[in-house]
Amino acid sequence: MTVRIELGESSYDVVLEPGCLSHAEELLDLDRKVLVVTDAGVPEEYAETVAAQCKNAVVVTVPEGEGSKSFPVLEKLLVKMLEEGFTRRDCVVAVGGGVVGDLSGLAAALYMRGIDFYNIPTTLLSQADSSIGGKTAIDLAGIKNSVGVFRQPKKVLIDPETLKTLPARQIAAGYAEIVKAGLIADAALFSLFEAGDVDPVEALYRALLVKKSVVEQDERESGLRRILNFGHTVGHGIESVTGLYHGECVALGMIPTCAPAVRERLIPVLARLGLPTSVKADPDKVYAALLHDKKAADGKITVVRVNEPGSFELIPLSPEELRDYVGMVVKS
Ligand code: GLY
Repeated sequence: MTVRIELGESSYDVVLEPGCLSHAEELLDLDRKVLVVTDAGVPEEYAETVAAQCKNAVVVTVPEGEGSKSFPVLEKLLVKMLEEGFTRRDCVVAVGGGVVGDLSGLAAALYMRGIDFYNIPTTLLSQADSSIGGKTAIDLAGIKNSVGVFRQPKKVLIDPETLKTLPARQIAAGYAEIVKAGLIADAALFSLFEAGDVDPVEALYRALLVKKSVVEQDERESGLRRILNFGHTVGHGIESVTGLYHGECVALGMIPTCAPAVRERLIPVLARLGLPTSVKADPDKVYAALLHDKKAADGKITVVRVNEPGSFELIPLSPEELRDYVGMVVKS
């Protein structure tokens, strides 16, 4: 199935189809020079499958992990394209998770003032969320995503077959973003998780529809798109201090930012998915990291709160309230 993201001249299709990786050449224009970017944690066969379908592929494998969202690695991609004689007619294809997508999307946006970019996300987390919506970025001075641009891909290919090689812990982390989509905008999606009856393709499709609707209304995050950050305020603080995955931190961050009745329903859903519902860490350190990440307006930080599945509210929290939120899931 195909979900069209309608953004005027920047509109594009997201193709969700088991096996689509193996016929990418029919779906993408690969009849040119193609920088295929992947990372060392992604099974090599995925980038090789894409490269084999390109007229002239140059494969670059960056180190696995957030550390690759950096100026040196970005520069490496740009220099590689220069050395290989890439022109404005050539393109970049990301094959991997959110790190690869964010980094190579930015490289494509910068090279020769912007060349085509295709995203082939291979983790559930990036398939459900980060590959859609045109956010590209690297990190700077320890601040995540502090250097980047909004630039939509030309197309996104989501092949759920890639989930077969994804470790269970990463699958669970991806489901956290899908539970998030259900809680903020699709009560029926959340109910599927409560019933314990989740087909990954259906869950992905419903999460994509949520993302489509939000991005189409607010591409540049001047308002509504902030709801996609549900669970991320406390989550980012936890992520900075612990070694947990992004999705695991989002799972933890959603717990305090729900009404008590929703929280009671959410905790068993997360536990059944194999996600953490509390974490051992220093709450003061998490709180300090969270403040480092967020700008307070009038001493308050606005967070997304879910009072009923499928709906949201933006609420300003005082530092004391936020500190209490951290304490609900971070135990020393
Ligand atoms: N991952 C949140 C967003 O795309 O806005």
